[in-house]
Amino acid sequence: MAICFLSPLKPITPTTSLTTNLNPKKPNILRCNFSLPIITTTEPEPVFTSVRSFAPATVANLGPGFDFLGCAVDGLGDFVSLRVDPSVHPGELSISDISGTKNLSKNPLNNCAGIAAIATMKMLNIRSVGLSLSLEKGLPLGSGLGSSAASAAAAAVAVNELFGKKLEVKDLVLAGLESEAKVSGYHADNIAPAIMGGFVLIRSYDPLELMSLQFPVEKDLIFVLVSPDFEAPTKKMRAALPAEIGMSHHVWNCSQAGALVASVLQGDLVGLGKALSSDKIVEPKRAPLIPGMVGVKKAALEAGAFGCTISGAGPTAVAVVGSEDRGMEVGERMVEAFWKEGNLKAVAMVKRLDRVGARLVGSVPR
Ligand code: HSE
Repeated sequence: MAICFLSPLKPITPTTSLTTNLNPKKPNILRCNFSLPIITTTEPEPVFTSVRSFAPATVANLGPGFDFLGCAVDGLGDFVSLRVDPSVHPGELSISDISGTKNLSKNPLNNCAGIAAIATMKMLNIRSVGLSLSLEKGLPLGSGLGSSAASAAAAAVAVNELFGKKLEVKDLVLAGLESEAKVSGYHADNIAPAIMGGFVLIRSYDPLELMSLQFPVEKDLIFVLVSPDFEAPTKKMRAALPAEIGMSHHVWNCSQAGALVASVLQGDLVGLGKALSSDKIVEPKRAPLIPGMVGVKKAALEAGAFGCTISGAGPTAVAVVGSEDRGMEVGERMVEAFWKEGNLKAVAMVKRLDRVGARLVGSVPR
């Protein structure tokens, strides 16, 4: 059994340093490192003996929104079960079980769910009970669907629910960011929508400011997600990005990101798709690193998708369509293109927008 100790408590002094680069060889993009504040001065008691939580898959970037836009996808994600465990030393977390993958560590400090759970315990000032966590992976690792964020979001929400929901959404995102920073980089465009659901704009990292963007409830939004049998580690895909961009690309991408936000709020699928397809900064650098991606995008648009881009850091391609039938058709064409142009097998899924985010799905009262 792997167990982790919480570090000694520090006073509530959030600190920020802007010294770590996204790409260490290229010094102009900054990443923030925050010390987590302790939010609850009095240690809360558990209100449940055990809880079970779910957190959805997410699509980060959405084309021109690199590191600041993302949304959640329904019916696909990770589960966390968490219980008060008298056999675990008070104030400690143990990972008792991981299913759905063989490739994750049970050491809480090397596991996304573990890191986020510990960060949440730290914010809640938990010293008197020990916890056991079990993780069920529904998402493949390194697929571009926010797998690490889903584990972290489910874990942060489970800890918060177990102790009576004392933390705010922003605190949970900060806890999840601890985990994201360790595995891929300090970006919230997966973890924020995984926790909050729907579309989220990260307006600022320092301090963290999040804006929910409401896609009209009466309208349907359907994503086609096509995942090839290929690895695209986020760290590697981030290292491929330029440290500097020209003014014309800056102006173009900002206007497209603005159009994307407006289209989301208006429920304008055509506008959303057009903006999703429009990134001139990140996608052009990453698409050549994913065999067949350029042809896959072309195939999606020719088959009637409103727009298509790389989901997160890839290798999954995401397209937006207006109906499930169209989604099946577009998905087939994209799978064919991955095979023909990239020699990669791929699987397609047709999914809706998740408007809820990470949630409690079961609990046992004390
Ligand atoms: N914004 C991040 C990136 C998302 O593109 O590197 C990773 O899922």
